[in-house]
Amino acid sequence: MAFMQWDDQYSVGIKVIDDQHKRLFAMIQDFYDQMRQKHTREGISTLLKGLADYSLYHFNSEEALMTRHQYPGYLQHKNEHTKFIQKVEEFRLRFDSGQLLIPIEIAEFLKTWLSNHILKTDQQFAPFLREIGVK
Ligand SMILES: [Fe+2]
Repeated sequence: MAFMQWDDQYSVGIKVIDDQHKRLFAMIQDFYDQMRQKHTREGISTLLKGLADYSLYHFNSEEALMTRHQYPGYLQHKNEHTKFIQKVEEFRLRFDSGQLLIPIEIAEFLKTWLSNHILKTDQQFAPFLREIGVK
């Protein structure tokens, strides 16, 4: 079942970012699928770790573009990224220690956060980059 589906409204018009966002969409879909099927605690934890790692990599790419081009909203944007990584780590720790038994909460959080972040925060910073010729 499609849980996290890409469509054009999410495109920020910069290929490298769109490609990374698509990969994050696919990872969240994977997480959802695993969770719905017969999942193991270890499998879910590994997927979460992978998501945190890839998100970090992706955020670093965005932040490098922002600092390179002196984007004025850098600090605020970076702050959203940092909070997300902390939240995912917190979920993983709680899940690993058995305090969080319902991974659907995690899936919903990932989905809502990423959609909102792309549609609001990334869509604010992408026009700035496009204007100065970043593709
Ligand atoms: Fe971002």
